[in-house]
Amino acid sequence: MRLEGKIALITGGGSGIGLATARAFCREGAKTLLFGRRTDRLQSAVQELGPQAQAVTGDMTRNEDLDRLIKTAMDTHGRIDIVVNNAGAFSGAPLHEMEEAQWNDTMDLNISSVFRLTQRALKPMIAQKSGNFLHISSILGMIAVPQVAAYNASKGALIQFSRSIAMEYGALGIRSNAICPGLIETEMTADLMADKELMAIWAKDYPIGRFGKAEDVANACLYLASDESAFVTGVVLPVDGGFTAH
Ligand SMILES: NC(=O)c1ccc[n+]([C@@H]2O[C@H](COP(=O)([O-])OP(=O)(O)OC[C@H]3O[C@@H](n4cnc5c(N)ncnc54)[C@H](O)[C@@H]3O)[C@@H](O)[C@H]2O)c1
Repeated sequence: MRLEGKIALITGGGSGIGLATARAFCREGAKTLLFGRRTDRLQSAVQELGPQAQAVTGDMTRNEDLDRLIKTAMDTHGRIDIVVNNAGAFSGAPLHEMEEAQWNDTMDLNISSVFRLTQRALKPMIAQKSGNFLHISSILGMIAVPQVAAYNASKGALIQFSRSIAMEYGALGIRSNAICPGLIETEMTADLMADKELMAIWAKDYPIGRFGKAEDVANACLYLASDESAFVTGVVLPVDGGFTAH
């Protein structure tokens, strides 16, 4: 198994890309803590995944919840090998009309919370001289589209944050990589993807001829989480059916 004996934390693990990644990690032998706000979603995920999975309910924007997540992992397993910074939110508005609260909320969840969790996970990783961060950014961290300036900026910042970890902690055996999904079928995109006319236009930008599935991203996470990618750090991996090859 590709992740035998590894201890993984996945934020936003109860749905979409996070849940698909949890399925892949558990299948490959990792003990996986799923963190998120919705206890019912986490519990049903744990029921599906079995004893290798554990649910920790909490909010990414609350320091005490992040402390509890790290404490639970350390008390249960004594180490943290992989952190998947996946929880995030997408919202839009024309920039000249965007409320400051929308900007702040997007930044708080999509980048500041990642900083807060990463800082906490780094402490045990430095002590054990190994660790592995995966950051779920977006193609909108690489290119920009209109009316989602806060999201574009937050996901771009996440890429640079990931590279910063790779530079600063590589010598301590800690890796960090960013994954940039294109349009993926999840709850986050369900309303958008219900617009068939718009999707027919957008599909033309995907050379591979389809949009993505959560499992497409989970498979990339699996590679970057495993020792098969031991010499890979600081990279930005689009998982986008060729969208950013234009
Ligand atoms: N679906 C796409 O097309 C797409 C494309 C590029 C990037 N992404 C990114 O992938 C990640 C996962 O999104 P998804 O598509 O699986 O959608 P999703 O809505 O299923 O997943 C987001 C998860 O984050 C959790 N979350 C939100 N706010 C939280 C908070 N304050 N504390 C704890 N958890 C919180 C949600 O409960 C949910 O489980 C996000 O970071 C998103 O920006 C998605």
